[in-house]
Amino acid sequence: MSFRGQVAVITGGGSGMGQAWARRLAEDGATVAILDVNEAGMAETAASASNIKPYVLDITDADAVASVFADIEASLGPVDRVANAAAIMPFGRLLEEDPKLTTRVMTINYGGLVNVATAALPRMIERGSGDFVSFSSMTGIVPGLLMGAYASSKAAVQFYTEILYHENRNSGLRFCCVCPPAVKTALWQQAEATVVPKLPSKGETLMPDVVIDEIERCLDKGKLFSYPGKQTQLGVVMRRLFPQLIWRVSHDAEGF
Ligand SMILES: NC(=O)c1ccc[n+]([C@@H]2O[C@H](COP(=O)([O-])OP(=O)(O)OC[C@H]3O[C@@H](n4cnc5c(N)ncnc54)[C@H](O)[C@@H]3O)[C@@H](O)[C@H]2O)c1
Repeated sequence: MSFRGQVAVITGGGSGMGQAWARRLAEDGATVAILDVNEAGMAETAASASNIKPYVLDITDADAVASVFADIEASLGPVDRVANAAAIMPFGRLLEEDPKLTTRVMTINYGGLVNVATAALPRMIERGSGDFVSFSSMTGIVPGLLMGAYASSKAAVQFYTEILYHENRNSGLRFCCVCPPAVKTALWQQAEATVVPKLPSKGETLMPDVVIDEIERCLDKGKLFSYPGKQTQLGVVMRRLFPQLIWRVSHDAEGF
């Protein structure tokens, strides 16, 4: 697919799926702005192509986000595509976790999305075109023990994106909220540094490119939700039809 002449913005472009997608879009001709706190990671992403532009940015700072988007529109051109990949994923039992960390997960994973949407979307809606992608997670649909902070933030991402889509459904924009299972990226190191729930470790792990392919398909088909992987699709059905079974499996796996 050619993205020649287009401008894409990717939060979390210094690692994992944001990095993989930035490289792919740059190869396909887009100018890609990557926004991240991870300077070293962004330098690695940008080293592969001169059309990847790094911006050091903490997405929890609403004023800084607004100013970076104004800067991108002025220097790179109108933004055609925004992907919200930045997130953190510490795990742990809710009452054993520092409440500052529990709320920090929400501030980054959900609050950062709100800041980016508010800064980016009014101009895109005025132009009547563009793609807006939110990264939720399978855990935002199928909650599990030890994932309380992260799963809550990803459930919030889903509701926010769904309502955002319906409030702007005649805008000409395409919205996609992707809910991946475990994906092979550095994000898992954060879980390993805290507590590793046994259940997702037993499940399927996808490669970043598989998820990105699914997002592109979701956008092309005009669907709002993307569920990459067979296990995620099964999880969606199980959660709806057998919610107690989901919990039985989680209790059995974690042993409490
Ligand atoms: N990897 C998985 O198993 C998995 C599964 C489901 C959903 N997801 C979601 O997919 C998205 C991409 O995940 P990934 O696995 O590529 O993660 P990753 O850890 O590889 O990359 C995330 C990037 O976000 C950046 N970031 C964190 N806080 C930030 C902040 N305040 N401001 C700006 N940047 C910040 C990090 O520095 C990092 O470079 C995330 O939203 C994640 O929750 C990941």
